[in-house]
Amino acid sequence: MFEIVTARWLAENLKKFEIRAPRIAAKQQAGQFVILRVHDHGERIPLTIAAGDAVAGTITLIVQGVGKTTQLMNSLEAGQVLRDVAGPLGLPSEVRNYGTVVVVGGGVGSAIAWPTARALKCAGNRVLTILGARSQDLVVLEDELRQVSDELFVMTDDGSCGERGLVTDKLKQLVQNEQRIDLVLAIGPIPMMRAVAEVTRPRGIRTTVSLNSIMVDGTGMCGGCRVLVGGETKFACVDGPEFDAHLVDFTVLAQRNAMYRDAEHDALERFQNQPQRDLQRVDHQCRLIDKHPELQQRT
Ligand SMILES: Cc1cc2nc3c(=O)[nH]c(=O)nc-3n(C[C@H](O)[C@H](O)[C@H](O)COP(=O)(O)OP(=O)(O)OC[C@H]3O[C@@H](n4cnc5c(N)ncnc54)[C@H](O)[C@@H]3O)c2cc1C
Ligand code: FES
Repeated sequence: MFEIVTARWLAENLKKFEIRAPRIAAKQQAGQFVILRVHDHGERIPLTIAAGDAVAGTITLIVQGVGKTTQLMNSLEAGQVLRDVAGPLGLPSEVRNYGTVVVVGGGVGSAIAWPTARALKCAGNRVLTILGARSQDLVVLEDELRQVSDELFVMTDDGSCGERGLVTDKLKQLVQNEQRIDLVLAIGPIPMMRAVAEVTRPRGIRTTVSLNSIMVDGTGMCGGCRVLVGGETKFACVDGPEFDAHLVDFTVLAQRNAMYRDAEHDALERFQNQPQRDLQRVDHQCRLIDKHPELQQRT
């Protein structure tokens, strides 16, 4: 079992956790993720490793509460424990000195992009970051991303922070004004990633997206995360999650992600009406750890 060391709200519906997971912290690289279960009757969900501290033995996860499991996770506090955390999974981001890189983050995509933006900056790239959100209170990790960016632009739908408009409005400006853009990394909702791909496609700018397909095992065995890339079937968990945006079939991705919408809606409604059932399972784990500290991941 895995202890929550710290838990802190970053924005409405978005919580940052440090989890004690020494083996994952020692191995993880930018772009990789974990699959976790909150308790032993829970579903498995993939979450990007936002940061890893090998010395402290912790990993950082940033969670947007969109459905049952992410809302359950966001109701937890420091001192409680997660049933299992498997990782690091997926291929690391391809980090090298490209030249000028534009990082585009939409919503929680900004949190997912943060570790790769940091690694790209460390590799010597000039990093221009565009953050998009509906309004000011939903802009996440602005300070953290500013620290790893040469320039940072905030775009909000209502103009309450930065400029009013879409991330693609700013991207179009940069594409016109910058002498050269060598890579665009876009992470966020499917329509945003698709729109970014259409801005860069005519100019042949290399563009990478991180795909949020539905995952179960995370090891290439269940086929749940299959995506169509360049006409070929790929598994986002082992062949990705990052792919060439100009080759991704976003229509298939959107269709597959919507497949369980009714069941997801019902699960969320049941959890919101009766959260005690799940919370009691977490409490039971905490009591078990008190009795048997050896069950906790420490080394
Ligand atoms: C590689 C990867 C990294 C991710 N990193 C983060 C992150 O760092 N922070 C974050 O907040 N979210 C991240 N996500 C998305 C997160 O996994 C989903 O929001 C979560 O699984 C939803 O579960 P739920 O029960 O709360 O919601 P549900 O109601 O079950 O689903 C809400 C929506 O989330 C998607 N979804 C559902 N189940 C899964 C699943 N098992 N795998 C992937 N997507 C699913 C579906 O599109 C669905 O419509 C990541 C997804 C992937 C694939
Ligand atoms: S999650 Fe099962 S094959 Fe990718």
